[in-house]
Amino acid sequence: MRKPIIAGNWKMNKNPEETQEFLEAIKGKLPAADQVESVIAAPAIDLNALVWFSKDSDLKVAAENCYFEDEGAFTGETSPKALSEMGVDYVVIGHSERRGYFHETDEDINKKAKAIFRNNMLPIICCGESLETREAGKQTDWVVAQIKAALAGLTAEEVSKSVIAYEPIWAIGTGKTASADQAQEMCHAIREAVKGLYNEQTAENVRIQYGGSVKPANVKELMAKPDIDGGLVGGASMVPDSFLALVNYQ
Ligand code: G3P
Repeated sequence: MRKPIIAGNWKMNKNPEETQEFLEAIKGKLPAADQVESVIAAPAIDLNALVWFSKDSDLKVAAENCYFEDEGAFTGETSPKALSEMGVDYVVIGHSERRGYFHETDEDINKKAKAIFRNNMLPIICCGESLETREAGKQTDWVVAQIKAALAGLTAEEVSKSVIAYEPIWAIGTGKTASADQAQEMCHAIREAVKGLYNEQTAENVRIQYGGSVKPANVKELMAKPDIDGGLVGGASMVPDSFLALVNYQ
């Protein structure tokens, strides 16, 4: 049985003081770790506060990005080695905003996935199609190609421990959520692709999230789908009560 995982993605929001206020508001109200895995992905400037809070709570911590080298002359980048050493659990990679605004390629994302495992963390690997691609009926080919490229060279054990986040670009920040059936259809296609690339057990183990206007009002319907194991949530994760409603959806 795959443990549900609900992750907030704060994107480029909240300073350390606002982070501390958020953490005080959720203290003692997260679900038990054996029921639902609660994660917050935050800007690098906020990770120290999240890691300290996570030491005495069931919260897991994610970075929103990292470089694929562990150290060196890469001004402005964040080291996966340093993230791991400070206690970060996950790293979100391949978010459509990184691919779009910062021109990250499938190859970059694959190298980051390997660096994350090299440093004993786990990736949340994002994929998803544009509205144009969906309207052309090519969404499944597009997403499966992204996943195949992102997983290249990873072992079955590594993929089993990975999280994949399907985030249709047309649903991100738009309030236009994919229907639960649309989300299930793509998450199933991703799981089938993993089965073809690896094996049945790996496909069964990998956890697949849906992201794109997930809210407390629609999380239950989404989580009831057989191939949706969690959510990657932007806007609705920024407010303590909303984040708590999401992680306590059961
Ligand atoms: O990574 C999650 C994010 O892209 C979804 O944003 O605001 O549509 O929940 P939002």
